[in-house]
Amino acid sequence: MGRQVVHIHLLPLFEPALAIETSKISLYRSPQMTLHRACDKYEVPVGSMKQVSVAGQDLLVANVDGSFYALHSWCTHEEGNLSEGVLRKNVVTCPKHGAQFDVTTGKALLGPDGESADSIQPEKSYKVLIQGNDVMVEIV
Ligand code: FES
Repeated sequence: MGRQVVHIHLLPLFEPALAIETSKISLYRSPQMTLHRACDKYEVPVGSMKQVSVAGQDLLVANVDGSFYALHSWCTHEEGNLSEGVLRKNVVTCPKHGAQFDVTTGKALLGPDGESADSIQPEKSYKVLIQGNDVMVEIV
C-alpha cells in the first residue's frame, strides 16, 4: 500500500535508471544521511510519545496534532528519559527535574528545577518523513 519508487540516476552513462522500492530498503538521501524506519504511525496516537531505538540511537517520536517529530530521548541535563515525561502540545517535560523542550525543534524552553532555558543544551532533533504507515527518521 502506498509504495513509492525512487528513480536514481547514478551516472549519465548508466541507463536505464535504477529503480528502488523504498519500502524494502533504507533510502540513501546523501552520503551522510540515511532514512530509518522508527515505528508505525499508528503506534503513536495524537498527543503521545514513544521511545524507539533506531540505528543505535534512542529516540523519542512524538505526535503533535497529527505531525510527527523525533528527538534524542535522553535529557541534556542528567539523562532523564524524556519519553517517560509528559507531552502537552509540542512541549515535553522531563520526568527527572522538569526541564522542558520543544519536540518540534529540540529547543530548550525551561531548565531543570525552574532554571532558565539557557542553563541546558537543546535536544538533538531529527528530520521525520512519513512513508505509507511508516515513521521514517533521517539519521547522519
Ligand atoms: S534530567 Fe532532565 S531535567 Fe534533569
